[in-house]
Amino acid sequence: MRAFFCITILFVFTFSCQTKTGKSASEMAKFTGTIADSAAVVSAHPFASKAGIEILKKGGNAVDAAVAVHFALAVVYPRAGNIGGGGFMILREADGKLNSLDFREKCPAAGHRDLYLDADGNVVPRLSIDGHLGAGVPGSVDGMYTAHKKYGKLDWKVLLQPAIDLAEDGHMVSEIEAEYMNDNREKFDKFSTTGKYFTNPSNRWKGGDKLKQIDLAATLKRIQTNGRSGFYEGQTADLIVDEMKRSNGIITHTDLLAYRSVWREPIIGNYKNDYRIISMGPPSSGGIALLQMCEMAERFPVKEWGFQSAKTAHIMIEAERLAYADRASHLGDPDFFPVPLEGLLEEQYLSQRAKLINQSEATRSKNVKAGSPKGATAVEGKMPAESNETTHYSIVDKWGNAVSITTTLNSNYGSKVFVAGAGFLLNNEMDDFSAKPGVYNQFGLLGNEANAIAPEKRMLSSMTPTIVEKEGELFMVLGTPGGATIITSVFQNILNVIEFEMSMQESVNAPRFHHQWFPDTVYVEEEAFNVEIKSDLEKMGHRIKSRGSLIDKNYIGKVDAILVRKDAKLEAAADIRGEDTALGY
Ligand code: DON
Repeated sequence: MRAFFCITILFVFTFSCQTKTGKSASEMAKFTGTIADSAAVVSAHPFASKAGIEILKKGGNAVDAAVAVHFALAVVYPRAGNIGGGGFMILREADGKLNSLDFREKCPAAGHRDLYLDADGNVVPRLSIDGHLGAGVPGSVDGMYTAHKKYGKLDWKVLLQPAIDLAEDGHMVSEIEAEYMNDNREKFDKFSTTGKYFTNPSNRWKGGDKLKQIDLAATLKRIQTNGRSGFYEGQTADLIVDEMKRSNGIITHTDLLAYRSVWREPIIGNYKNDYRIISMGPPSSGGIALLQMCEMAERFPVKEWGFQSAKTAHIMIEAERLAYADRASHLGDPDFFPVPLEGLLEEQYLSQRAKLINQSEATRSKNVKAGSPKGATAVEGKMPAESNETTHYSIVDKWGNAVSITTTLNSNYGSKVFVAGAGFLLNNEMDDFSAKPGVYNQFGLLGNEANAIAPEKRMLSSMTPTIVEKEGELFMVLGTPGGATIITSVFQNILNVIEFEMSMQESVNAPRFHHQWFPDTVYVEEEAFNVEIKSDLEKMGHRIKSRGSLIDKNYIGKVDAILVRKDAKLEAAADIRGEDTALGY
C-alpha cells in the first residue's frame, strides 16, 4: 500500500509539473485505474469494496452491492461510513431510467430556529457540532432499505452479512484509521456517555490492531432480521432514545418512526451538446451548483487554454463564486422552502450570470450577490480548521446499472456520540443548517431563511453524487467527500475528463482548488499551481491559500469514480488521497 502510495505521489508531482505548462493531459504520461470488463466498485475502504464486488459476483445488481458497501463502511470506515447518518443516491438503470433517493437526516420535531442560540441570540459555539444536540434523525438505514425494496435482487439478509462478519470477527485497523481514532479519543470520552467503544488495552491504536464491534454486530443483525424496523423501532430505537436522554439530545421514538427517505427527481442538465449531467437536487445544493458551474464554464474555451492554466482556473473560480452566492440564498429543503429550481438553471439566467465574469480580473466576493432567478423569494469566512470526512462510492454492475452514493456523519465520527449498547456513532448533521443568518457553519458556509432550522426539515447539503452520460450512454459515475469542496471537486473532475482528456485515474489524482464565495480566497492543494501560474492568478486579484499537500489530511476531496472507456471497458479510479480501493471484474 505504502509503496503504491509513494509511486502515485511521485506521479502526481510529475503530473502537476507537466500540467503547469498548460499542456493538454493527453500529452502527459498516462495513468489508469482498475480496468474491468463487466462491473466495478470503488469505495473508501478495501473491505467495503470487496463486500460490494462479491455481491456483484453472486448475481446482485448495483443497488444490492451498494447496500453491502454501505453497511460494510459503517463497520470498517466509522469516521464517515454509517448507520447513524444519511446521504443521497443517484441511480441510472441500464436502460437509461433515472432516479434519486434522498435519505438525508431530518431535524427532530423538537428542533426550532433558535436551537443553537443563547439568551442574547448569539450562536453558542460548537453546540451544533459536538455532542447529542447536533444529531439529526438518521436516514441511512431507511435509505438502504427503501432502495433495496424498489430495485434489489438478492435477499436483504445476504447483503447485511459481510458487515456483520466484519463487526463480529473484527477487522484490521489501518495506520490511518488508528491515527484518526487516537486523535479523536478525547472527544469520544467527552461527548459519549459510554467509554466502551474504540478502546483497546493500551488506549492507543496502531495499524494492524484488530477492532471488534460486538454491539454494532448485534444492531446490524436486528436490521438484517427486521429491515428498517430493526433500527427505527424496538431495541435499537430504545437505545437511541435512552442515549438522547442521558444528555441534551432531542431525538424521540416518534421522530424515528416517522423518518422516511424520499424519491426525488434528479437534477439534469447538459454540458455542451454531448454530455448530460445527472446529479442530486435539493435538499442537496450539489446538483444545482454543479450544473451552474458547468454551464457557465462551457461558454469559455478552457480546452484550448489547458488544464489549470491561469485562464482556465480563473474562469472556474469565478463560476464557483457565483454558484456559491446563489447557494447561500436560494437553496434549502424543497419541502419547506420554494427553491427556484428552474430559474437557477435557466439558460438566460446563467448567461446573465456568466456575463458577470471578467476574463482578466477577479471579482471581489463582497461585490457578488445571489442572482434573482425566476421564482426566487429570497439573500446574503472561514474554511474548516479540522479535517472532515464524508464518503462516496460508485458502482456499475454487469448489466450496466450504475449507482452513485455519497453518505456522511458530517464531521469525522459525527457528533462523537456512540449509542451505548448499539455500538454506532450519531451524526452532527444539524450543523449543516444555518444556525443564524450571516454566521458561518463548520465549513465556512453561509445560509439564510432557505436553510433555517425547522422541525422535520432537512438541512442543506453539498453532497453531489453524480452520473454523466455521453451521447445517451453511461459515461461517468463519481462523487466525493469534502464538505463545501464536494461540488467544486466534482466540477473539476468532470472538466478533467471531458475537456482535458484525462483518464479517470489521472483526473482523480490531479491536484484541486476551491472557491466558495466567502471567504474570498482560493484554497488549493499545494501541487495545484506552480509559482508562475499562482503569480498570474494573484495579478488578476485572486487570493490564494494553500491547504497543504494533497498527501496531507487537509486534501481537497477524495473522489471515487468509474469511467466507461471508448473500448466499453470500465476504468474504476480510487483516490490516492486515502485508502480508497477500486475493484472490478
Ligand atoms: O452534507 C454536507 O454537505 C456535509 N454534511 C458534508 C460533510 C463532509 O463532506 C465532511 N467532509 N469531508
